[in-house]
Amino acid sequence: MEKILRYAAALWALASCTSAAPNDPIVSVDSLGVQYRGRARESVEEFNSVKFAEAQRFAPPEPYGPPRGSEIDATAPAPAWPQIRDPLPPFFGETPDQSEDCLYLRITRPTGTKPGDKLPVVVHVMGGGVIKGHSQEALYDPTHLVTSSSRIGQPVIHVVLNYRVSIFGFARLPILKDQQSLNVGMRDQRAGFQWVKDHIAAFGGDRDKITAFGLSSGGTFTSLQLMAYGGTRGVPFDRAWCMSGPPGTALNMTSDATELHTRAVARTLGCNPSSDDSEILQCLRDVVMDKLTETAMAYAMQNHPPAGLFTFIPSVDDDFLPGRQSALYKAGRFVKVPIVLGWTHDDGATNAGLVTEFHTEADIKTSIRSFAHALTDDDYATLFALYPPSGFEAEVHNYEARKAAPDPTVSVHYFRASRILRDLLFTCSSLDFASELSKRSDPSSPLPGVRLYDLNQSTVTPLLRTAAGMTWLSGAVHGSDIDYLYNNMFPRETLADVDLALSDRLLAAFLNFAYAADPNGAGAAAPSWPEAFPSIHNGGSFSRAKPAVNVQLIGGPWGTGNCHLSADTSAGEGSFAAEQMDMQHPMVDSTKYGEMGEESLQQGQRELERDRLLERCGFINTLAEKLGH
Ligand SMILES: *[C@@H]1O[C@H](CO)[C@@H](O)[C@H](O)[C@H]1NC(C)=O
Ligand SMILES: *[C@@H]1O[C@H](CO)[C@@H](O)[C@H](O)[C@H]1NC(C)=O
Repeated sequence: MEKILRYAAALWALASCTSAAPNDPIVSVDSLGVQYRGRARESVEEFNSVKFAEAQRFAPPEPYGPPRGSEIDATAPAPAWPQIRDPLPPFFGETPDQSEDCLYLRITRPTGTKPGDKLPVVVHVMGGGVIKGHSQEALYDPTHLVTSSSRIGQPVIHVVLNYRVSIFGFARLPILKDQQSLNVGMRDQRAGFQWVKDHIAAFGGDRDKITAFGLSSGGTFTSLQLMAYGGTRGVPFDRAWCMSGPPGTALNMTSDATELHTRAVARTLGCNPSSDDSEILQCLRDVVMDKLTETAMAYAMQNHPPAGLFTFIPSVDDDFLPGRQSALYKAGRFVKVPIVLGWTHDDGATNAGLVTEFHTEADIKTSIRSFAHALTDDDYATLFALYPPSGFEAEVHNYEARKAAPDPTVSVHYFRASRILRDLLFTCSSLDFASELSKRSDPSSPLPGVRLYDLNQSTVTPLLRTAAGMTWLSGAVHGSDIDYLYNNMFPRETLADVDLALSDRLLAAFLNFAYAADPNGAGAAAPSWPEAFPSIHNGGSFSRAKPAVNVQLIGGPWGTGNCHLSADTSAGEGSFAAEQMDMQHPMVDSTKYGEMGEESLQQGQRELERDRLLERCGFINTLAEKLGH
């Protein structure tokens, strides 16, 4: 044993001798016969540009292996995938350095990590509306995350993978389908995960503890990966943490919209629409990168104003994605992994559109139609009854109470649209997928662990109010979760105590999950976070007549704790009265609320009950096909 250690030490010394700077880490990946040189910085070691695949335009990623025996300098930042160069504040910076040769990983590990350390690995699939973001994005710099993980004794390796977006990742033409070349952006992600699985041990990672995570479209991609190939080929990661990214935000998967968009861009570029598709494709392949990027983005902005999000999107291709996502998971065609699905309490507020455009109920339709085009008048009638104006007067009053003189008047219909969109895009799909995962877990195999959260605290909301002039926003808007993990938008020293505490708690839960597939445990000052549907997968008697679900309320004025929502505690038809409900349903079990003051959490529970999630999602989830889910 000692001999081996000495030998290893000698080898290590040798490796260090050949490196450029004495502290630069070198990793030998024996299976590839390649060494990667990284850079030591603060308390992390970083490999910025580890190429995992070769990208030809409109084709799936090809395996890539550097020549055997080479030492790769992985210290330089990898180029971003093609995207608009302008920043998209406050989330994305300028992106000057771009290339179609963009399929790189950025690997960051605690200083001194060695092969054999078997650290859990967290792999970020970045969000950004399928148009923006890349591995060097300042907001997602993993230095603080990795450093904190070491500090609290749960060190992890952080990886972020690049993948193609916009028309480069999701062009659609029948000929591309024949070539099994649709959804190449998602195929890139899978290739990146596979590289991590195959080689991360050399960097000191544990190939069996890979957590995929992402926000928004990044979360949706993560959850959709579970359905790739209908689940028949497994998935190259072991658990998933999806922030405002259930499969359901992938609207329009079955429509021909992406093909129409691809043809429209081709037309604009003068790729003759009367020629056959192979010529159109060749023509699109010949366009220089910048020109294609700009034309596709200009088109996208007009298709889905203002920023052009979600125009080139994943679609059913009878191969990588063999069906609509909800049809796939309802048929059990997915890979079961432990999962956390979360949303923010006001997840729909920034999607609803400009507040000044809401005057009447009809304006809610306009807002929803930019996401869901196929709902009927009857569907809207039911939705409007489920989200009556009376349920949102409190929001109006709160806004009026704090509004400054120049702020716009806000109609109750804005708040209704905001909540409907939150549920349509985020909560209902989370509930549905979570319940399906729980139901399908095999009692004889280890329990998968399915958990839900509702985050009701934010550092981002105040920022959007001041910096973006969206004075009407309150609560926790879309995207509020991720900076609590990364601490870049708001460095730790700038955080208020309540936000610092929440950041610590959320990060601890995340790291516990990376370690043991369970957010509960060491380091987490959090009260216990139960599974979403324990009765189902304990083989207990789950009664369809009385569905119930556990949602972890995280942060906000009532604090963190578990809320048990059941059909019993759901408010009556069309109206509710929180106080009254409390009298009628003293259902709150204080033992569940950990450190939270009992009264405070009871209030949180009542507030969450106001959302009538089971009832509303019961209806919304019947719309799956029309939503293109
Ligand atoms: C979704 O598909 C429909 C039907 O093709 C189309 O009208 C709509 O614009 C699409 N939505 C987006 C955001 O592309
Ligand atoms: C969420 O936070 C807002 C204040 O920002 C509060 O009014 C509301 O009651 C909270 N809801 C829950 C479920 O915590």
